[in-house]
Amino acid sequence: MKRQDVIRVLEWFSKSGVTDLTLNNISPSSKQQINTLAELKTAMENIDISIKHCAQHMVFGTGNPHANILLLGEAPGAEEDRQGIPFVGQSGQLLDKALSAIGLNRDKVYITNILPWRPPGNRTPNGEEIALFRPYVLKHIELVNPKIVVCLGGTATKALLQSTEGIMRLRGRWASIDEINARILPTFHPAYLLRSPSQKKEFWHDMLMIDEFINSEHS
Ligand code: URA
Repeated sequence: MKRQDVIRVLEWFSKSGVTDLTLNNISPSSKQQINTLAELKTAMENIDISIKHCAQHMVFGTGNPHANILLLGEAPGAEEDRQGIPFVGQSGQLLDKALSAIGLNRDKVYITNILPWRPPGNRTPNGEEIALFRPYVLKHIELVNPKIVVCLGGTATKALLQSTEGIMRLRGRWASIDEINARILPTFHPAYLLRSPSQKKEFWHDMLMIDEFINSEHS
């Protein structure tokens, strides 16, 4: 099936209210083969999508593949595209500081994005791209099997929760979806905090919710 046809089918599913697309819907033969992160990476490398051809590197994921906490960002920026690693630019430095304040670092968490390639000019991922990659994100989460998924920013939150509510209302509140076992905590994107430092107080509140969770009997 051509990429445009796949996108049309996904759009049709989305408009029809289908929310639990699995990799089966994209490629029935690949579902059984994706049992490891390496297999998922190969499957994603083979996706033919225009943003891939504008990017330098695919940015898959980094950190501890058995982590209890998975951080989900939007898409690689310029520095991430150069290095092939998520959150290594300015936002990443802020994220590292926040993690370190609650005793975490990249060896203790796993970090990935909704999109593995940088959209040209750092534009926001569009609906077609999100619909195409959501099943891969769900598979990624399933393979890491974290207890918490922290959605960084409105795009990651909307893509995962498929909610019409904005990040201002959703952040700092635990959420869940049927497709994954982990609890989901939406919070602000570090890039937004760099632009609006006054919101760091709310972000810190959400970091403390993570800290509380990992120190509770749930972890
Ligand atoms: N912003 C994101 O959402 N992800 C990255 O990897 C870097 C910046």
